Amino acid sequence: MTAPTSLDGLEPGYDIPALPGMTLAEVQTPCLILDLDALERNIAKLGAFIRARGLRHRAHAKMHKSVDVARLQMSLGGACGICCQKVSEAEVFARAGLPDILISNQVRGAARIDRLARLPRTGAAISVCLDDLANVAELQAACARHGTRIDALVEIDCGGSRCGTTSDAQMLAIARAIDAAPNLTFGGIQAYHGPAQHLPTHADRRAALDETIAVTRAAVATLTDAGLPPPLVTGGGTGSYLFEAASGIFTELQCGSYAFMDADYGRLRDEAGQRLDAGTWDNALFLLTEVMSHTHPTRAICDAGLKVQSLDSGLPVVHGRSDVTYTQCSDEHGTIEDPEGALTVGDRLRLVPGHCDPTCNIHDWYVGLRGDRVEVLWPVSARGKAF
Ligand SMILES: Cc1ncc(COP(=O)(O)O)c(C=O)c1O
Repeated sequence: MTAPTSLDGLEPGYDIPALPGMTLAEVQTPCLILDLDALERNIAKLGAFIRARGLRHRAHAKMHKSVDVARLQMSLGGACGICCQKVSEAEVFARAGLPDILISNQVRGAARIDRLARLPRTGAAISVCLDDLANVAELQAACARHGTRIDALVEIDCGGSRCGTTSDAQMLAIARAIDAAPNLTFGGIQAYHGPAQHLPTHADRRAALDETIAVTRAAVATLTDAGLPPPLVTGGGTGSYLFEAASGIFTELQCGSYAFMDADYGRLRDEAGQRLDAGTWDNALFLLTEVMSHTHPTRAICDAGLKVQSLDSGLPVVHGRSDVTYTQCSDEHGTIEDPEGALTVGDRLRLVPGHCDPTCNIHDWYVGLRGDRVEVLWPVSARGKAF
């Protein structure tokens, strides 16, 4: 075998799906594209809603994992900062200069806690959630070692049955221990109900959130009576923020998916029975795919399979086409039922991913489009940062 003598075609830069200035037709598929007009509309709309109610928006960056999108949420949407779920995600955003980061999750284990305690050295204000007394002592010791200070919030279980304290006694003990820890500040409480976000109707979500809000209201009263009024009551997401915003208890909302949207959120109904993707939020994120084979008269095969999307919330939906349906996939192939034979090899389709967060996490780049022209190429900065 002859050794290659030239790197022609293999230089850095050939492994990206597009360059600014290209037309949509030149973008290599499959890849994630962002409709920048739709993204900006979503961000500005939520920002205006939250500001008008005197609340804060702390955008959940676990959804997009993008420094550029986070900056846009702050500059255009007025977000006060971001949430992350993992220390490694927070490290990426802190190094990029994001000023205020809440890890809306539990951080356990010596190595992770040590990295968390170092984070304020980047200059970012760092906060974290706790639901275990032992975690207070671990975090205090690490912050003392590094000479840093962190805001610690007690996470309460408000119905989601994930993390969070399940009794007043647990919550109060942790809040008191945080308050007494020299390198920690009691930051308030987090009350987030994940499953409620995805309940199909407005009435279902309202019923679940009535419970959440009642639990949260009681927790605030208990802490206040104990002399520890929570400075911050944070939670909420794309499916529930209307209720937290109207509660009079929550002071900060953590919506993430609203910015990109996905097929799962699109199916939810608003108060008037309309789909959430029919006027409330615009689809801004698409998986661009190309038909690569059409040997069967009513079935096309596209290049977007399992490796470029998460199917935990269902199959993707073909955007703007009622005549063709994405029905199944294998690793690198997607099957599209095409009963009228409308598609041909080379045709491009925009797929709305079933679930945006885990889909974004398996891509390196967002190709940002203004109309049909590539305007920006943004890295998925915290891609794969799960530790
Ligand atoms: C703690 C927390 N807050 C906020 C969100 C944001 O929710 P969404 O992307 O549905 O707006 C999530 C998402 O899972 C979450 O885990």
